Amino acid sequence: MSTPALGCRRLEDRDRNTFLALARQVADEGDSYPFDDETTEGEFLDYWFGKGEIRVAVDGDRVVGGYLIKPNQPWRGSHVANVGYVVDRAMRGRGIGRVLVRDSIARAREIGYRGIQFNLVVVSNVGAVRLYESEGFRIIGTVPGIFRVKDGRYTDAHVMHMDLTGPDEADSEQA
Ligand SMILES: CC(C)(COP(=O)(O)OP(=O)(O)OC[C@H]1O[C@@H](n2cnc3c(N)ncnc32)[C@H](O)[C@@H]1OP(=O)(O)O)[C@@H](O)C(=O)NCCC(=O)NCCS
Repeated sequence: MSTPALGCRRLEDRDRNTFLALARQVADEGDSYPFDDETTEGEFLDYWFGKGEIRVAVDGDRVVGGYLIKPNQPWRGSHVANVGYVVDRAMRGRGIGRVLVRDSIARAREIGYRGIQFNLVVVSNVGAVRLYESEGFRIIGTVPGIFRVKDGRYTDAHVMHMDLTGPDEADSEQA
């Protein structure tokens, strides 16, 4: 199902609680982000609001997803972005993730980042892997056992990357 009214914009104060609810949903699922039962509220808030910029996907007035874009590393690594996406569980599979990924690539270029790196794409997160590959990200490598699943098992995760130093293909497609 498509969501034609979907747009992206910067997170505003009034969106904060809705966005946080989506972020908590994803944290509770426990299969894509590193939060666990030991994560404190302060750490959680600092993760999302500590640095970088959040943009949200809105369907009409309703916030249905969002992403945090921030430097992947400080200082000599700060020219590469890291992005984390969340989509409302009830709204997944409708193209919102793809809209967010495209918006984040455009935003990363606008900010002047030279690339985007995802550090922890859990291999079982097939939807995310497919989405990222279909938008041009490459799997750089797969780190064995880097993610501890809720049930205590250790599983692998990909590092994925997109180079932004070349021409913007979205621009040349429009030309
Ligand atoms: C990953 C996530 C952001 C994707 O958002 P989404 O809105 O469900 O994705 P979309 O509907 O835009 O799907 C885009 C593509 O991803 C793939 N995809 C999405 N869900 C899939 C699934 N369950 N199985 C297989 N492929 C899937 C498909 O290739 C799809 O393209 P298509 O519809 O043209 O075939 C969303 O599922 C989410 O928030 N998950 C929890 C948090 C998370 O994992 N964040 C990423 C951490 S790395």
